[in-house]
Amino acid sequence: MRAVCPGSFDPATHGHLDIIERTATLFEHVLVAVGRNSAKNYLFDPDERVDILTEATAHLRNVAVKPLSGLLVDYCRDEGVDVVVKGLRFASDFEFELQMAQMNHALSGIETVCLPTAARWAHVSSTMVREIALLGGDVTSFVPVGVAERIRAKVAGRNEGSQR
Ligand code: PNS
Repeated sequence: MRAVCPGSFDPATHGHLDIIERTATLFEHVLVAVGRNSAKNYLFDPDERVDILTEATAHLRNVAVKPLSGLLVDYCRDEGVDVVVKGLRFASDFEFELQMAQMNHALSGIETVCLPTAARWAHVSSTMVREIALLGGDVTSFVPVGVAERIRAKVAGRNEGSQR
C-alpha cells in the first residue's frame, strides 16, 4: 500500500522524522507531501522545505518527497495513495486531525491513520522551533543536524537583511 505523510514541515523536526520512519515500516511506499498552511508565516519556501526533507529522508529507501499545492485528496488520487498518515501529539491535535480526516473521507473516501507521536518529541512543534530560532535560541535538539544548519543560515541571512 502507498501512504502519504502530509504537512507543512517548516521546519521538519525529529517528531516529523519519527512519524515518517515509522510509516515507512508499515507501508510499502511513502510519499511526504510538503504543503502550505495559509495560517502560517513561513521560514522556508516550498522548494527549500522539499530539499530539506529529501536530505533528511535520504536513508529511507521507500520514501519520496513531493510538493503539495492543491487539495490533499487530489494529490492522493494523482499519486495513487491509499492512506493518509498523521502524527498525534495531544488532544488538540486530535480534534483538528479528526475533522480533517472526516472531511477528506467525505471528499474522496480516503482513509486516515493516526500514529501517536513518540513521547520524547511530543512537546516539539515547528511553530515553536521557528520562534525559538528567530529569537536566537538553540533548536539543535529538536531537528535533524542538516535542518539545524539550514535554520542557522536562514536566520543569519534574515538578521543581516534587517541590519541593512
Ligand atoms: O503541518 P500542517 O501545517 O499541519 O499541515 C497541514 C496540511 C498541509 C497537511 C493541510 O493543510 C493540508 O492537507 N493541506 C492541503 C489542502 C487541503 O486538502 N485542505 C483541505 C483539508 S480537509
